Amino acid sequence: MSNHECVKINLRKVAVIGCGFVGSTTAFALMQSGLFSEMILIDADQDRAEGEALDISHGTPFARPMKIYAGTYKDITDASIIIITAGANQKPDESRLDLVNKNTKIMRSVIQEIMKYGCEGILLIVSNPVDILTYEALKISGLPKNRVIGSGTVLDTGRLKSELAEHLGVDSRSVHAFIIGEHGDSEIAAFGSANVSGVPLNDVCEMRGYFHHEAAMYEIAQTVKNSAYEIIEKKKATYYGISMAVRRICEAIVRDEKSVLPVSVMLDGIYGLKDIVLSMPTIIGAGGAEGQMPIPLSETEQKQLKHSAAILQEVIQNIHA
Ligand SMILES: NC(=O)c1ccc[n+]([C@@H]2O[C@H](COP(=O)([O-])OP(=O)(O)OC[C@H]3O[C@@H](n4cnc5c(N)ncnc54)[C@H](O)[C@@H]3O)[C@@H](O)[C@H]2O)c1
Repeated sequence: MSNHECVKINLRKVAVIGCGFVGSTTAFALMQSGLFSEMILIDADQDRAEGEALDISHGTPFARPMKIYAGTYKDITDASIIIITAGANQKPDESRLDLVNKNTKIMRSVIQEIMKYGCEGILLIVSNPVDILTYEALKISGLPKNRVIGSGTVLDTGRLKSELAEHLGVDSRSVHAFIIGEHGDSEIAAFGSANVSGVPLNDVCEMRGYFHHEAAMYEIAQTVKNSAYEIIEKKKATYYGISMAVRRICEAIVRDEKSVLPVSVMLDGIYGLKDIVLSMPTIIGAGGAEGQMPIPLSETEQKQLKHSAAILQEVIQNIHA
């Protein structure tokens, strides 16, 4: 950031851009987390940002002290994490990729505003289609790839863990499994490496009396993939699950945890994939995306991953055509 004064990063400061369903619930989850002592809310609708800041700040006496206010892009230059949730959400029967044209424009304008004043922190993209918008944010900002990440399939992985946990009657935190690839219709449930506390998934299923592995896992993967559609059909938008996923990513960054989370990142050759942003298990710490954790994938899973990458690559080519 040669055009800007050298600003010292404030680890305890976070910004949320876009204060709709996802932005406001994320801000609410972060207020309760105790991870930050200052939070700036920005929205194209200034009243909305001010209203959410006031409302959420009234929760702090029941949580921890925190300064929460509607601010401007000048206020966020030293924020450690800038969460972007600005943009249209899916309507019933709309896929995430259908949002690409309107939300690419919004993402470009938001990133340009951020970079006008400079930014020392990590950009955490949540708006959909998150893989495409993370790619755009990375290219437009010119920031190093470790500092531009998408929430990716962290939410989908949470959904998978919760479905598997219910099926198997175990704590979802003891389930180790990832959804990888696009955060969307071509996502892959990487069952090949899934386990419960180190015990391979199929063995745990058999212990629980389930033997039709392929059919059961197909059904669980479909439920996970379609859960956003189901929620949107029933209540118009999804926001609680994603707000907890974003909180978890922030926690891994602020506490420098080196946690392995399936965020959306620029790939540089893993499984032969380059110049594409999608979700793979990634080590998350104070530096953002600090490295890949290449979980073993079956041949079928590798093929599905390449297919997912090809779909995203085509969308990117179209928006740049
Ligand atoms: N990554 C995920 O897992 C995940 C999960 C759920 C939703 N989402 C996505 O998050 C995004 C937000 O969803 P939502 O339900 O909160 O939508 P929403 O319509 O409730 O909120 C969007 C907000 O963005 C604001 N906005 C629009 N343009 C802006 C700009 N240029 N600058 C600042 N603010 C701007 C709007 O004023 C609005 O308040 C959508 O793209 C949705 O698909 C992602």
